[in-house]
Amino acid sequence: IRLGVIFGGRSGEHEISLMSATSVIKAIDKNKFLPVFIGITREGKWLLYDGPVEHIEDGGWQKLAEEALATDPEKYGITVLGAQKSLKDWIDFALPVLHGPYGEDGTIQGLFEMADIPYGGCGVLGSAAAMDKSLAKEVFAKKELPICRHLSLYKEELDENFDRVIGRVEKYLPYPIFVKPANMGSSVGISKAKNREELTAALELAMKYDRRLILEEGLDCREIETGVLGNYRPEAAAVGEILPSAEFYSYEAKYFDGGMSKICIPADLPDEVTKEVREIAVEAYRLLDCCGFARVDFFLERGTNKVYINEINTIPGFTKYSMFPLLWAEKGLPYPELIEKIIQLGFE
Ligand code: DAL
Ligand code: MG
Repeated sequence: IRLGVIFGGRSGEHEISLMSATSVIKAIDKNKFLPVFIGITREGKWLLYDGPVEHIEDGGWQKLAEEALATDPEKYGITVLGAQKSLKDWIDFALPVLHGPYGEDGTIQGLFEMADIPYGGCGVLGSAAAMDKSLAKEVFAKKELPICRHLSLYKEELDENFDRVIGRVEKYLPYPIFVKPANMGSSVGISKAKNREELTAALELAMKYDRRLILEEGLDCREIETGVLGNYRPEAAAVGEILPSAEFYSYEAKYFDGGMSKICIPADLPDEVTKEVREIAVEAYRLLDCCGFARVDFFLERGTNKVYINEINTIPGFTKYSMFPLLWAEKGLPYPELIEKIIQLGFE
């Protein structure tokens, strides 16, 4: 099987994808799969790459792939839906290891559907619904899954009358307030606002990333996550906890503060809380029509131990040290076997 590992991408999480893909490529059983590396640049250009795996994470792959293409366009010229040799001529199965918009949001999944290529992870609907934090919350609310108090906004409303919107927000949500672009991952563009001045700055930042924003009450909580795997009858993994080094699990805390944030698996929780988290995770996964795999994130309120579902990540961080694979390892499914399971589910 020619296994297309697709990495990079146009989103703010380009670098994270390079890290995830490197771990995935290293773990693939080369006796069973012939990996084909396909990188997408920040600008959205697709490049075939057959150089050293080490140069994926450091970004060096791009120059090497461009050079290969220039010397032999016949061999390296890949198009997505073109008249030349197209994606389907290169790969039999696609494994998108892309995070955020144009990768985790249903767009590339639609392309695989159009090109008739089986692929790993959620389909178009599940990916799109989970990517939009605002829409996902509305769906969870309809089925009375526990969600925190929140408010959805459009950038256009803010452009029209910023002060009026601020007034409305302050009436509905007490400080601190989390301000998030609806469609991003890795906490890109997210801030915690403790007063009006910070709220103004937070809205301006979030608007740079998306025209849909979500504002949430800042609970005093622990961050709990579980993994879900499967198609029609999905199962939940162990439950883990993030012990953030910063005030919340920000982009810096996630990837760039020298690994000060810690992961604790299994999370130290009463059995009934673990059970509740795993049940809600599976229910939410099915509600958004997810398949393959996803990581479901929760808040656990301190004091009350009340569980709130926060979001579903349909292509969660996938390095060897990432929560999702570690949660499955805890359940007895080691990293390479987890990847094979995801591929198998994609063929079903
Ligand atoms: N968006 C990052 C990669 C995650 O959810 O793990
Ligand atoms: Mg996310």
